[in-house]
Amino acid sequence: MNLIDNIQQLRVWSGMNRGTRCVLVPTMGALHEGHAALIRAAREIAGHTGNVVVSIFVNPLQFGPNEDFSKYPRTLEEDLVICRENGADILFAPRAEELYLPDRSIQVVETSLSKTLCGASRPRHFDGVCTVVAKLFNLVQCDEAVFGKKDYQQLAIIRRMVRDLDYNIVIHGIDTVREADGLAMSSRNRYLTPSERAQAPVLRAALLKAREAYIQGGERDGEVLQQIILDRIAVEAPLGRVDYVQVVDASTLQAPTEATELRVIAIAVFLGSARLIDNIELK
Ligand code: PAF
Repeated sequence: MNLIDNIQQLRVWSGMNRGTRCVLVPTMGALHEGHAALIRAAREIAGHTGNVVVSIFVNPLQFGPNEDFSKYPRTLEEDLVICRENGADILFAPRAEELYLPDRSIQVVETSLSKTLCGASRPRHFDGVCTVVAKLFNLVQCDEAVFGKKDYQQLAIIRRMVRDLDYNIVIHGIDTVREADGLAMSSRNRYLTPSERAQAPVLRAALLKAREAYIQGGERDGEVLQQIILDRIAVEAPLGRVDYVQVVDASTLQAPTEATELRVIAIAVFLGSARLIDNIELK
């Protein structure tokens, strides 16, 4: 596996590999088992003859003014090992100065799917995500890319960007990897204190309870499903502060309609300085 830290070298590599299937795994580093699963999935999609490129870039554009950009964990040495052990061919880790020129004036703006859920409390976040992912697509010239389903809204928005900007790239959503107690793996879980960590699995437990009410109990009222989750969190995670719990259409991320094929419940809860997100598809 090779480490590439600048655009010029990446372009040379990409020129030499034209015609070879390329699968991209965009990340912000601080890799954990959830990322390892994405890299393994990319390896499987690329096959023996294709290339897997992992990108690591802590993207300043997607952090709000009071968010954790400066303290976001940077662990390149450990990340290199995870990339190598899980089958990556290239680790692309550019410097911010190279990706964003001081007088840059163009970016991607999403005007619909990013207005709900996480986007409601993180304005401009998804514009930052779309901008960097579009740049990575252009630079890496990948044929396919993998994203985790934990960031359900991000995945839906990337699919929409690929459709609306005519990228000829296949997007794969990969299932969330969880700790033994159900907590979705996230680089931000390390911010949890022991008592917050002990309460964090309630997100998953509450989502499962609501899905049970939907599947087995036939409950179709979104507000009732929402209340099941809120009640459970109130009892089992008193340290938590709920940002949102919403039942939405999986592709529009708006309230379900008659035409909705798949519903998803998405949730975000602050536990101390960590903001945890999770979701469950109702199927
Ligand atoms: O999911 C992430 O880690 C980031 O949002 C992404 C897709 C790498 C863009 O910076």
